[in-house]
Amino acid sequence: MQVAIDGPASAGKSTVAKITAKKLSFVYIDTGAMYRACTVIARDNKIDYGDEDAILKAIDKTGIEFKAVNGEQKVYAGNKDISLEIRTPEISANVSQVSALAGVRKKMVSLQRKMAGQTNVIMDGRDIGTTVLPNAEVKIFLVASAHSRAQRRLLDLKQRGIHSDKTVDEIEKDIANRDYKDSHRKISPLKKASDAIKIDTTNMTIDQVVDTILKKIKEKA
Ligand code: C5P
Repeated sequence: MQVAIDGPASAGKSTVAKITAKKLSFVYIDTGAMYRACTVIARDNKIDYGDEDAILKAIDKTGIEFKAVNGEQKVYAGNKDISLEIRTPEISANVSQVSALAGVRKKMVSLQRKMAGQTNVIMDGRDIGTTVLPNAEVKIFLVASAHSRAQRRLLDLKQRGIHSDKTVDEIEKDIANRDYKDSHRKISPLKKASDAIKIDTTNMTIDQVVDTILKKIKEKA
């Protein structure tokens, strides 16, 4: 079975996708982490974030890998664990430029489809229901108010031990900026699939969102 969870930044996609996947023994695939890893590779190789050819070559040369270490999903660029690095504000600020590149999307989408073809998956991102897995049995589109998403992002950074000097209002602006870019790019913009179920998580607990998604999955099983 394929479950697609899309939505804007910090709407709670990865948190609920991880818990739901664990409860069902499905594999969780974080596609945002892939675009973030591409951005780290571009940065580390001092490549302009718009230089598609150079970024594609660097991705091939370095290699991106996802490994489960002690039950946790880790992201590697070559031998280097970049699981924390991909979450830094610098990478968040530039990932939308890299993810808008046609060649980068083509490469990542092909990888994502390959991963989803092997087992039951819950995949989260921006274009999973519309482009990557258009035939997914369950499609969810998670939204939440911009302010609550900014509060969640700040908490998430703190919990990961990533330092940020920004206020909630500044983070809210950053998130709105990223959502604008992700929704207005030419290829596979962030958009609710017509057959996706929209869930507004602003006033919901994590457990309530997970239960709602589990119910939808069980209806299709
Ligand atoms: O989900 P996350 O916030 O980690 O995603 C980081 C960025 O990766 C998004 O802002 C977007 O630019 C890109 N992305 C994408 N398509 C996906 C998942 C993420 O373009 N399926």
